[in-house]
Amino acid sequence: MSTATAIAHPNIALVKYWGKRDSAINLPATGSLSMTLDIFPTTTTVSLDDSADHDVLVFNGAERTDGPAERVTRFLDIVRDLAGSALRARVETVNTVPSAAGLASSASGFAALAVAAASAYGLDLDAAALSRLARRGSGSASRSVIPGFAVWHAGDDDASSFAEPVDAPDLAMVVAMVEKGEKAVSSREAMRRTVLTSPFYPAWVSSTAESLEAAIEACRAGDIERLGRITEVNALRMHALIQSCDPPIRYLSPVSIEIFDRIAALRDTGVDAWATADAGPNVVVLTRPESVSAVTAALDGVNELAVAHPGPAASLLPRTDG
Ligand code: PMV
Repeated sequence: MSTATAIAHPNIALVKYWGKRDSAINLPATGSLSMTLDIFPTTTTVSLDDSADHDVLVFNGAERTDGPAERVTRFLDIVRDLAGSALRARVETVNTVPSAAGLASSASGFAALAVAAASAYGLDLDAAALSRLARRGSGSASRSVIPGFAVWHAGDDDASSFAEPVDAPDLAMVVAMVEKGEKAVSSREAMRRTVLTSPFYPAWVSSTAESLEAAIEACRAGDIERLGRITEVNALRMHALIQSCDPPIRYLSPVSIEIFDRIAALRDTGVDAWATADAGPNVVVLTRPESVSAVTAALDGVNELAVAHPGPAASLLPRTDG
């Protein structure tokens, strides 16, 4: 029976993806830019089972039959369709990133699942095709297929919406863990609500498209200061947008805001550091590798901290069963 194991890492967007143009195939309203991390990997094994009549998901050691299992089956249906197979699979996944706490666990999860499932079902896909496939599971997963810095092109259809690497200066991130619990509103629901109810959504789309172009330029030019400024402004614009929904959604907690303030104060002392946050209260600080200790000192006593550098592409692990 065919089995494959893959590993993938989360990514943190510097220019965020927030809002879908086509939710059936996760086409984003705008492109985005991210760094894949070298910490918090997800490892996923997909084993085809010719005697099973349904897929099985084992998540961190526990079998799931609820929402995540349905999401995995919907994703495997796409893979089965591409492979012309009807076989069901057992999916075992071990996630070291706190799940659903706005730390991109779905990104590493669907990137690892895409790579493992493509191999188990015998598909021979290049990086762009794997990125497109991962996108179908979770938009941000398209970027976790790619090592280091990745641009996800919005595209106009399934074929043109994928991530690819972009040259970038040497950077690090400090992850400040504020809460590890599940977020109250999923990013899927919050994006839907944003598109339907926020009067600021069109301005978000046009300003993010501009920010993305400027950020890619800054990346290629090695202009850390410009890239950092764009990163923090884009994150706070996204959170302002999310708060402008009806009913409103707020992901940042008072502690998150305190961290943004501490990073602004640190910047005033001449340290290059900029804060960002995904759909949750955890804050990630973008900085130069040599300034990591200044950032961790500035955040002393507030959080559990983790330091990340640009990480590897999602990849298959060698088989261990001979
Ligand atoms: O891929 P999703 O549906 O979990 O959305 C991720 C959205 C953000 O993390 C908030 C932004 C991003 O670009 O990763």
